[in-house]
Amino acid sequence: MRRLRLAAFLALPALLAGCAGLLLKKAAPADIQVPRTPERLARGEYLVTHVAACFDCHSPSKGGLHVPDMTEKGAGGVLFGKEDGLPGQIYATNITPDPATGLGKWTDGEILRAMREGVDKEGNALFPIMPYNNYRQLSEDDAQAIVAYLRTIPAIEHAVPARQLDFPLNIIVNLMPKPMDGPAPALPTEQIARGKYVFTAASCADCHTPQGSKGPDLTKLGAGGMVFHAGPTSYPAPNITPDQETGIGGWTDAQVAVSLSQGLRPDGKGLRPPMPWFAYQGMAKDDLKALVAYMKTLAPIKHDVGKRW
Ligand code: HEC
Ligand code: HEC
Repeated sequence: MRRLRLAAFLALPALLAGCAGLLLKKAAPADIQVPRTPERLARGEYLVTHVAACFDCHSPSKGGLHVPDMTEKGAGGVLFGKEDGLPGQIYATNITPDPATGLGKWTDGEILRAMREGVDKEGNALFPIMPYNNYRQLSEDDAQAIVAYLRTIPAIEHAVPARQLDFPLNIIVNLMPKPMDGPAPALPTEQIARGKYVFTAASCADCHTPQGSKGPDLTKLGAGGMVFHAGPTSYPAPNITPDQETGIGGWTDAQVAVSLSQGLRPDGKGLRPPMPWFAYQGMAKDDLKALVAYMKTLAPIKHDVGKRW
C-alpha cells in the first residue's frame, strides 16, 4: 500500500509534465530547404563562429573550464547543471549532421524552428539556455544562413546524456516557447540598431544580466553579477553598462573594442572564459564598431558585482 502511494506520488510530476506538454505552443516547422549558395554559407559560418558563438556551448568543454574543444565543434557536451544554480542537468546537444546523435535526420525547417522557437524535432520544448528568444530576432536571411552552414560541418558521432529537469521546472519549461508572431525582422542598417542586433545575436545580455526569480532581470540589462565556475575558481560577469564607477563608462571606445576582440582589459588583465572574445576576434570591423556604439546607449546601472580577482 505504502509503496503504491509512493509510486503514485512519483508519477504525479511526470503526469503533470505530460499535461503541460499539451499546453506547449508550437507551430509546424517550415517546409523549406535552404539553398546552400556560397554567400549564404559564408554568412552562416561568420554568424555561427564569430557572432552567436554556437560552438562555444555546443562543443565539449576542456576540463570543465568553459574552453570549447574546437577539434570537435558542434558535437555537444557542455553541461549546465546544479553548479550553475539550475534545478536539473541540461547538456548542449550535438548539432553536427551526424544522423544518429546529431541533426542529420532533421529538416532545415525543424532546425530553424528549434533555433528560433525553442521546439525540437519531436515537438518538445527546449530549455532557454539555448538562446532561442534571441535568435528569433535574427533576419530571415541570417537565420537561414546559419541552418545552411550547420549542414556542412563535419558530422561527429557523439551522444550527449538526456536532459533532466526537476519538478516543477519540467512543467514550466513547456510554457516558455512561442511560435514566431510574424515575419522575422529586417537586418538593420543604421549603426546603433545594427549594434543592438549584434548584441542580441551574440547573447551578451544572457551572461551579463543578473538573474531575478524568473530568469534574467531585464531592468538591469548588462549590469553583470552572474557567477561562473571554472575549475576551482569562480568569478562574476562584470557590469558592462556605461556606469562610471561600477561599469565600463570610463573606457574609451577603442578600449571596449580591444576587450571584446582581444580579451584584454585596459589594466592589462586578460578576460577569462566563458567570455567568448576568441570568437569575437573574427567579428567584422563594422559589426564591432556598431556593437561598441550600441553598448554606450545602455542605461548606466550602478551595480557592484563584487571581487573579481
Ligand atoms: C549558451 C549556450 C548555447 C548557445 C550559445 C547555443 N546553444 Fe543551442 N542549445 C543549447 C542547449 C543547452 C541546448 C539543449 C536544450 C535542451 O535540451 O532543452 C541547445 C539545443 C539546440 C538545438 C536543438 C537540438 C536538439 O537535439 O534538440 C539546436 C538545433 C541548437 N541548439 C542550435 C544552436 C545554434 C544554431 C546556435 C547558434 C546560432 C546555438 N544553438 C547556440 C545551448 C546553446
Ligand atoms: C558565456 C557568457 C558570456 C557571453 C556570451 C559574453 N560575455 Fe562578456 N564576459 C563574461 C565574463 C565571465 C567576463 C569576465 C571575465 C573575467 O573576469 O576574466 C566578461 C567580460 C566582459 C567585458 C570586460 C569588462 C570588464 O570589466 O572586465 C566586456 C566589455 C564584455 N564582457 C562584453 C561582452 C559583450 C559585448 C558580449 C556580447 C558580444 C559579451 N560580453 C558576451 C561572460 C560572457
